[in-house]
Amino acid sequence: MRKIHVNASTEYDVLIGEGLIDKAGELTKKVVMPCKCLIVTDDTVDELYGDRVQISLSYAGFDVSRFAFPAGEASKNLSTLSDILDAMGEAGLSRSDLIVALGGGVVGDIAGFAAAIYTRGIRFVQIPTTLLAAVDSSVGGKTAIDMPFGKNMVGAFHQPVLVITDTDVLRDLPALQLSNGAAEAIKCGVLNDPDLFALLEAGDWLEQVDTVVARCVTYKRDVVAGDEFDTGNRAFLNLGHTFGHAIEHLSHFTMLHGQAVAIGTVMAASAAGCPGKMIRRIADCMKANDLPVRCQCDAATLAKAALSDKKRSGGKITLVLPDAIGQCHLEKVPVAELPLWFERALTAQEALKL
Ligand code: GLY
Repeated sequence: MRKIHVNASTEYDVLIGEGLIDKAGELTKKVVMPCKCLIVTDDTVDELYGDRVQISLSYAGFDVSRFAFPAGEASKNLSTLSDILDAMGEAGLSRSDLIVALGGGVVGDIAGFAAAIYTRGIRFVQIPTTLLAAVDSSVGGKTAIDMPFGKNMVGAFHQPVLVITDTDVLRDLPALQLSNGAAEAIKCGVLNDPDLFALLEAGDWLEQVDTVVARCVTYKRDVVAGDEFDTGNRAFLNLGHTFGHAIEHLSHFTMLHGQAVAIGTVMAASAAGCPGKMIRRIADCMKANDLPVRCQCDAATLAKAALSDKKRSGGKITLVLPDAIGQCHLEKVPVAELPLWFERALTAQEALKL
């Protein structure tokens, strides 16, 4: 088992290894004395792993209840949050009790937010069951729900007390879920880790999924330690997201987040004026992981959609632009110039016939 320590306002370990789902109770007991605990999950994950996690926690001495909501981003809303808070109340949870978020990014985000606000904050454990959640959203303490006026618009910073990633669960994921998470891992490679990028561009890395998760989490851990509350360098984690957000938005969120980030990362490299060989290498890495690299929208439409991104501050938006595989820089760009950046990206991609 690998252990990565996160040094944020709450310090915690991210545990990565085989068979950890069935050890969730004993691992949790090392950081939280047995207490009342509510497992929050979705109906798909509940069917697969709910019983196993509940049995493990009960065996370790926790007094366990369980709440499952319908799987999917459409559930990440105020109504589900209200249902979770009701379930916490009905389970009789107090401030010294525990939430266990068992699932992908939607579960982690909404269960984490419920934990952040219930009795002004209770502890929570993340058990990510998707690659995307394992490499990104389960670490760093961003919790949120979607609102009619935007994705993740209401939320809080609330760090978990433990993250348990079972690599057997990740190996069992459907191919689409693996590629969805691979996009965020490739993003980490482009940001900071040429060796990780090289592993991912080979395409056949599933046997080494523990290495992929560990390298992404180590990088994210370092970024979060330096800028937990996202006022500076945490923006690096948004590589591909400004371009990707526009694409996701225009697809009415029918496109998976990782697919949009994949296109967005290639667009970022193209807009940055990277050498054609490097842009092609990033695109080929995405393709080797069954990810798309092009969208059919025009620059003006994309720029308009990108401006619904909450990460805009004043009249400027921060772009993350690659310099090399493993190195990027931030650039604050006037909002009015955004169509030019999209135009530059599309022109470069056209010239490369991506
Ligand atoms: N997923 C980006 C962040 O945690 O800041």
